[in-house]
Amino acid sequence: MVKILPKKSFNGEIFVPGDKSISHRALILGAIAEGTTEVEGFLVGEDCLATISCLRQLGVRIDIGNDFVRVHGKGLHGLSAPKDVLHCGNSGTTMRLLCGLLAGQNFDSILDGDDSLQKRPMKRVIEPLRLMGANISATGDEKSPLRIFGSALKGIRYKMPIHSAQVKSAITLAGLYADGETVVEEISAGTTRNHTELMLNYMTENGILTGKKIIVPSDFSSAAFFIVLGLLKADEGLVVRNVGLNPTRTGLLDALWAMGGDIELCNQRKICNEEVVDIFVRKSRLKAITLQGDIVPRMIDEIPVFAVAATFAQGTTVIKDAGELAVKESNRLETMTAELAKMGVDIVALDDGMIIKGNEGGHEHCVSNAGVGAVLNSHNDHRVAMSLAIAALCADDESFLEGSKWADVSFPQFFDIIS
Ligand code: S3P
Repeated sequence: MVKILPKKSFNGEIFVPGDKSISHRALILGAIAEGTTEVEGFLVGEDCLATISCLRQLGVRIDIGNDFVRVHGKGLHGLSAPKDVLHCGNSGTTMRLLCGLLAGQNFDSILDGDDSLQKRPMKRVIEPLRLMGANISATGDEKSPLRIFGSALKGIRYKMPIHSAQVKSAITLAGLYADGETVVEEISAGTTRNHTELMLNYMTENGILTGKKIIVPSDFSSAAFFIVLGLLKADEGLVVRNVGLNPTRTGLLDALWAMGGDIELCNQRKICNEEVVDIFVRKSRLKAITLQGDIVPRMIDEIPVFAVAATFAQGTTVIKDAGELAVKESNRLETMTAELAKMGVDIVALDDGMIIKGNEGGHEHCVSNAGVGAVLNSHNDHRVAMSLAIAALCADDESFLEGSKWADVSFPQFFDIIS
């Protein structure tokens, strides 16, 4: 349990760790590339460490240095049978992407996860992979542990029924081993993150997946906590440097701009096929909005901290079309609603969203109805832990947070930066 004291202001310059999605993909694509992949800016968080441990069990040598990770690629057909169960910990990305990678191997494997991951839906990857010829058995309700019996695969054309980059990436990885062409269609173009596609293009030379130097930008999803904190507390300004700005990830910026947030992007450049920027934020007076449609999947991981921003906005914010939040590391619609309510926020959970009453008066800068401190709980969910910490920094009184260690999944330095 950590104690979090309110902050009067939060200004300056900060760096947040590497992008989790890109770090996972650098490991996985590096493992099946020809030659060595050197990764700079890798996220040393629990989720990515789970991917490293699984890949090592598949015979891949991975060195972890102080400021780099080196993956000694085995080539497309060089992975070997694991001797034991592959533990994916809390990481949905590890399990779903590896499920796609392993479906077409010439050996069998078992993927398992922690209590939270065992409750998360796997049918979304099992179903299309079975259409490709995969032989995967799961629990009665298609959850993990997953037994994957390596099989010959054939390419498919698949229209995803949900917005999911993990599903798209699992099918893409399986497609590398399939006979014929594989095509994945999104519900609407550009709404699920495309890091797998960008990295595959970056690493492909003369049709061969080739080990490369990969520079990982800072994670927009980790920067998001400080973008919101800056809007609420940076009276002199806050800058977050070197942040990945892939347009499939930046719905939060569009939402906060629509609310009147003073956020500027500077020094935009492209590194290893990914856009990168410095983000400047100043304390702003926010107005409530309705969030729905295609913007939602582009900010799906940021909705917990967006909910915190909404408690400080003038008016009532409505979030719709976000049913996916119910099947994340916790049911984020329920957990964020229950915890923010402890702080005095007038908030209601819907099946696919939330209704959040903000600062109705609007006369005073950044006064929320989240006035009181409270004893909060992360529900073993990293993004809930950090979103609640941001709310606690903006409360009128001290708060306590149980389960703060879950931040280690994606952002181990978070509580040092805010203390
Ligand atoms: C991820 C995709 C998203 C996101 C998750 C990471 C990825 O999940 O929520 O944190 O790295 O592909 P879905 O693909 O299930 O939407």
